[in-house]
Amino acid sequence: MKKYTTIILAGIIVLLSAVLVGVLVFMKNQPPQERAFQQLVEIKAMEPDSSLWGQNFPNQWSTLQKTKTNNIDTTYAGSSQFSWLEKDPRQVILFWGYPFSKDYNDDRGHMNALEDVRATKRLNLNDEDPKHTPATCYSCKSSDNPGLWTEIGMEAYDKMSFNEMTPNINNTIGCANCHEAGTMRLIVTNPALDEALEAQGKHWEDFTRQEMRTVVCANCHVEYYFKGDGKYLTFPWANGTEIHQIIEYYEELGFKDWEYPDAKTPMLKAQHPEYEFFTAGSTHYNAGVSCSDCHMPYVSEGAAKFSSHDVHSPLLNPEQACGQCHTDSEYVVRRVNLIQEQVANIKIDTENAIIDAINAIKLAAANPNADAALLDQARNLHRKAQFMWDFVSAENSTGFHNPEYALKILAESTNLARQAQMLAAQSVNDMTLLETGVYDKMDPKPTPAK
Ligand code: HEC
Ligand code: HEC
Ligand code: HEC
Ligand code: HEC
Repeated sequence: MKKYTTIILAGIIVLLSAVLVGVLVFMKNQPPQERAFQQLVEIKAMEPDSSLWGQNFPNQWSTLQKTKTNNIDTTYAGSSQFSWLEKDPRQVILFWGYPFSKDYNDDRGHMNALEDVRATKRLNLNDEDPKHTPATCYSCKSSDNPGLWTEIGMEAYDKMSFNEMTPNINNTIGCANCHEAGTMRLIVTNPALDEALEAQGKHWEDFTRQEMRTVVCANCHVEYYFKGDGKYLTFPWANGTEIHQIIEYYEELGFKDWEYPDAKTPMLKAQHPEYEFFTAGSTHYNAGVSCSDCHMPYVSEGAAKFSSHDVHSPLLNPEQACGQCHTDSEYVVRRVNLIQEQVANIKIDTENAIIDAINAIKLAAANPNADAALLDQARNLHRKAQFMWDFVSAENSTGFHNPEYALKILAESTNLARQAQMLAAQSVNDMTLLETGVYDKMDPKPTPAK
């Protein structure tokens, strides 16, 4: 009898230990989000002050704060504010007549967003001028926005001028831009994203957690425009988020950001379409990888495991950013270098083609006998070619987020630019307009507009 009791007892102990080990292993493998949060202080809905949230989540807060002082550059990006117009003066010509030809700096860390938008020379703070900067430009720069959008609505927000909005904006990007207080789940905070998804019959509340780890970035890292006199923030996604669907959208609307001086082309400026670019069938997107996997990898600090909120170029920490999935992170970084070098070189060829087209269209437009229909066709191709180039150029990964897509778009853009040049030459029947390499012959080279 005693023998059986001992065996049964030993059995129970073994079983219990196994269950305990199982539970521990399960807990260890759970991503941090799945664990219950210990919240020391209660955070009110849409609290703009990240330091208050930081009392509950010191690791996320301390890593977010690092984005303020990050300053290391990589070959094509990184965290300093180098000037794109100095790095690639062709862009001065491409953006001529538009504020981007005055000031166009590389992006830096999230906590600088407010300071940087206030410092850019692209602002027009003269409210008497019909072209003054609208409040809409604050949309992606501050954790005060979710509260303001709820309180006064985005329509009223966007009707105000940048100047008028300034006293309401006191905080840079923070927790309230990405999280719901209390539950800490990732949310869509920007009404323009909500509306753009709805227009495609999608509801972010139905998305999986892994999908939200990408969609939360689409609150800001997207192509957008200001609709109508109310400067209503709108994503051009009603036909879809693929580049041709976006161009089709702008064509149907007849929208232009500015008119190119002398050439009179109605131009489009692409913003920072990381979301559209990455999700257009890239290898990583198709494999279910999210923006946060590479830009916010899990890190450990003592016993705590959490998502690094120190968002920057993954080339600065490839072991963490890529090493979770790729055993050889040095190899994949070399692949990135090759991809980026190829895209950067081809991008310059595309810029040269567009500059040749601009030159030809300007010369043709100055000729009173030009065939107006042909010239308009040339302008339309210039408009499309430049938007396509800009879609790749303004996307901040120098092609890496979707290498095949980048090369395909640049090839098509170059082709359209050369066709535009040809039509311009035909419109005045002057084959000297087929001159190539115009930029290289320019002396002196253009400098940023005043
Ligand atoms: C597979 C990994 C990976 C994924 C997924 C990914 N990125 Fe990147 N991202 C990179 C790499 C690599 C670069 C290039 C960095 C460089 O040139 O220094 C980059 C560059 C960037 C940059 C510019 C960084 C800088 O230093 O200026 C931004 C912004 C960015 N990504 C946002 C996003 C967004 C938004 C998403 C999702 C829509 C995303 N990324 C998805 C790897 C990734
Ligand atoms: C730019 C968007 C963004 C901002 C700003 C942001 N977070 Fe996060 N946060 C994320 C993402 C993405 C995750 C990963 C969520 C997941 O895996 O479900 C995350 C995860 C978390 C988690 C879950 C645990 C973990 O580390 O994965 C906590 C807690 C958290 N963040 C707190 C904060 C706090 C506090 C702030 C402000 C100090 C903040 N976050 C700012 C995007 C953001
Ligand atoms: C509320 C708007 C907003 C959201 C949400 C947001 N970003 Fe950003 N992001 C910005 C702005 C604005 C900048 C440029 C700030 C500057 O230059 O001052 C930026 C810059 C960056 C950079 C460049 C950092 C550097 O050091 O050069 C990366 C990388 C980046 N974001 C990735 C992401 C990823 C990944 C997500 C989603 C997890 C995300 N962002 C969500 C607005 C946002
Ligand atoms: C969450 C997992 C994950 C992360 C993180 C990740 N990758 Fe990948 N990567 C993949 C998968 C899956 C593939 C597709 C593999 C395949 O098809 O063989 C892939 C493929 C690639 C390829 C080959 C793509 C092609 O089209 O040939 C490169 C290059 C690459 N990754 C670079 C990187 C770099 C650089 C980083 C970090 C910045 C990174 N990856 C981070 C999962 C990841």
